[in-house]
Amino acid sequence: MASKAPQAYEVNANELTGTPEQEAYMRDIIDQFTIDTKYLEQVRDRFMLEMQKGLDKEGATIAMIPSFVEGRLTGKEEGNFLALDLGGTNLRVVLVTLEGQGKYKTVSSKSRVSEELKTGPMRNLCDYIAECVDTFLTEQGLENQEIELNLGYTFSFPVLQTKINRGVLSTWTKGFACTGAVGKDPVLLLQDALLRKHVPVKVSALVNDTVGTLLSNAYNKPNTLAGLILGTGANGAYIEKMNKINKWKGGKTTSDEMIINMEFGAFDNERQILPLTRFDNKLDRESINPHAQLYEKMISGMYLGEITRNVLTDMIDRELLLKRDENTSFAWSKEISRHWSFETAFMSNIEADNSADFSYTKEILDTNLSLHDITTTEAKFIKKICELVGKRAARLAACSIAAIVQHTGATQAGCDIGIDGSLYEFYPSFENRMYEALSELLPEVSDIRKTIRLGLAKDGSGVGAALTACVAARMEKVQATA
Ligand code: GLC
Repeated sequence: MASKAPQAYEVNANELTGTPEQEAYMRDIIDQFTIDTKYLEQVRDRFMLEMQKGLDKEGATIAMIPSFVEGRLTGKEEGNFLALDLGGTNLRVVLVTLEGQGKYKTVSSKSRVSEELKTGPMRNLCDYIAECVDTFLTEQGLENQEIELNLGYTFSFPVLQTKINRGVLSTWTKGFACTGAVGKDPVLLLQDALLRKHVPVKVSALVNDTVGTLLSNAYNKPNTLAGLILGTGANGAYIEKMNKINKWKGGKTTSDEMIINMEFGAFDNERQILPLTRFDNKLDRESINPHAQLYEKMISGMYLGEITRNVLTDMIDRELLLKRDENTSFAWSKEISRHWSFETAFMSNIEADNSADFSYTKEILDTNLSLHDITTTEAKFIKKICELVGKRAARLAACSIAAIVQHTGATQAGCDIGIDGSLYEFYPSFENRMYEALSELLPEVSDIRKTIRLGLAKDGSGVGAALTACVAARMEKVQATA
């Protein structure tokens, strides 16, 4: 399935008429946010270099973490598994029934993780998760299981894995900052909390959401090469040959291939290639993790709205936007002056606006940010800025796919790439813009959509985690008989 996102309606640069100062400002912004093919190629090349560094040694910027998920799926995987998904906007508990032949059923429950839990002690977060699992099992009539249920734990943060169900959290990302977690094993912390509550569940696999996405896509598309998340955060996983993972010290494996969790959100933390603007720098500096996840901060849903807001507030400060009489302009800009007040979802809606007088854009700004009397000229500028930030994100994100495809030599034979996340699913034209950049980056491919097949991999963190738990059981069996 392709992304279901609507089309974006782009504003033509020659429609951007205003005062000479406004026009000059817009020209400069367009210039800063537009990335041409040549630049994309440089980003992609650098990306490939960094991938190699990550495969060669520990501690590289793109961490290239072996997931301990060995080999490919057969499509015949079956059974009941629990999955837990932590790391996006919500915490989800999912009961997955794998039916074989790429088919499955799921039942799930969802709850929000408060800011307090995200930044408080890890023990509290784990207790909360255990409580959610407990409630879910009761709702499903599974609370008195004789045999422990196997749970695949999708924990979508950089974890250096030591086994399929063991690892150490190296750092938090995406606004999480619980104390007492970095340097610890998230599986043990959760298992302890489950034991404290007597919940009959065994955490049998630790999964990054990208790995889960790859597997859920591969369950019915055997030519799947990679899984990506383009949502709150951004990251990818792909299938690598064991003999190319030069840093591997884990001994003999049950297959000659393993999925690598790239943790590519950290790409170019050294600021060598990414076309950072002063708006990106402002965002980075004011973030909870300055100097970290620089690529993620340019391409993922958590940040795009804030970059846009930084441009808009700069324009306001220069009196190029929202300039009214002396007294009203300050009151006007109150809401938009608040950190994170411009959500990426607003950009999505604004980009989809196809009205002649930008009435929908005006309405969104009015309802969400109390900007009551936006002029058509202003709405046009704001829409253009959303477009620039959104398009840059899609084009930069495409560099990672081009790099994976070229690194693995899949350009000729083609491959499937499963993608999950709100940006890919709902942001107007995100997929189209990625395809466009991909065809610029891979001019040798004649039909890009038929060769590098991007597709929505729904519920990678649920179904994918269940599949990982299933692979874990298979590997255990093979190891036992070896
Ligand atoms: C962040 C996390 C990574 C995850 C991604 C998408 O980049 O570090 O582990 O895969 O977000 O959720």
